[in-house]
Amino acid sequence: MKLLPFNEYDYKTPRIMEALNEASRSLAELKGFASSIPNQHILINAITINEAIDSSAIENIVTTHDSIYKVLTESGYKEDAAKEVVDYRGAIWHGYEVINKKGFISTNVLVDLQSMIEPNKPGIRKTAGTQLVNSKTGEVIYTPPQEEKEIRDYLKNLEDYINTKDDGIDPLIKMALIHYQFESIHPFYDGNGRTGRILNVLYLVLNNLLDSPILYLSNYINDTKDEYYRLLSDLRNNNNYEDWIIYILKGVDITSKHTIELIKKIQSLIDSYKEEFMTKLPKVYSDELLDSVFYEVYTKINYIEDRCGVTRQTAATYLNSLVEAGLLEYEKVGRESIYKNTRLIELLSKF
Ligand SMILES: Nc1ncnc2c1ncn2[C@@H]1O[C@H](COP(=O)(O)OP(=O)(O)OP(=O)(O)O)[C@@H](O)[C@H]1O
Ligand SMILES: [Mg+2]
Repeated sequence: MKLLPFNEYDYKTPRIMEALNEASRSLAELKGFASSIPNQHILINAITINEAIDSSAIENIVTTHDSIYKVLTESGYKEDAAKEVVDYRGAIWHGYEVINKKGFISTNVLVDLQSMIEPNKPGIRKTAGTQLVNSKTGEVIYTPPQEEKEIRDYLKNLEDYINTKDDGIDPLIKMALIHYQFESIHPFYDGNGRTGRILNVLYLVLNNLLDSPILYLSNYINDTKDEYYRLLSDLRNNNNYEDWIIYILKGVDITSKHTIELIKKIQSLIDSYKEEFMTKLPKVYSDELLDSVFYEVYTKINYIEDRCGVTRQTAATYLNSLVEAGLLEYEKVGRESIYKNTRLIELLSKF
């Protein structure tokens, strides 16, 4: 396999330029729109829950949504699909914090992300034998580098490419090539797809195309799986870089638009919820309390104590009033009292 940069390709073909324009415009719109939302944390938490579910290709989306909050509690509640989602989301947050602090994406960060996503098979491959096979026919499609040393050298080359900013290639085009190269190195036993998809969003943040990790191609890739696999192979076997890049750019365009719609829905849910809250419980309402109720898909008494600066007794009274008003649902998980934002859970599971 080849090392980056792929200088022999012409990235300024009319088809690429057109797709690039559209993708850049939609992404810029998403960035601007997201920054107009007051509480970024709420947005990121909600969007990454959905991304984690899409990326983990979990079948039963509704049940998973309804058990995520249980896994998030310290009750020791276990459910594999929901735990996978929570781990994946933790990895996104971790990656986001690291690049904000360090300003670059290292091989080590990628290894950390994969270890969080696949705690049972962590780290770079050490024994040979990994091959990519067609799940239907069993035929070997591609054999990635086998030796650990070789894998590390390719990763180092990728790391340099990721963190070089003055090569004159548009970051969206680079993201497409980075994704291809990362998946071709296929450095891990498992979780390469998921780690590669997180790398995409981190790369956008690193290049200031987004302020926060809110654009994910997993849903698009799931919808176009055959094309995704076919184009990865077509780039490798026939140097068809153009269709691959256009495929990714189209994904950025479609997904940016889709994400703007989701943000609008979340915002309007918060607005209508706020109105109902103020009308039904004028003495309980505060902006902090509203924020806390949307911070995650569930909340707890001690979160309210911390975020709203009230006593345990008051926090409990607030939450119970919200339950009585039909604005939250109460559930006991293990020994913990959980207050679910059912409306938010429903919105997210439908989107
Ligand atoms: N022909 C190919 N060339 C390069 N990469 C490929 C090819 N076929 C598949 N891949 C990559 O391998 C990934 C799957 O690898 P792996 O099973 O390690 O990841 P995962 O995160 O567990 O799975 P998934 O991506 O299906 O969620 C795919 O997402 C794809 O990016
Ligand atoms: Mg896998």
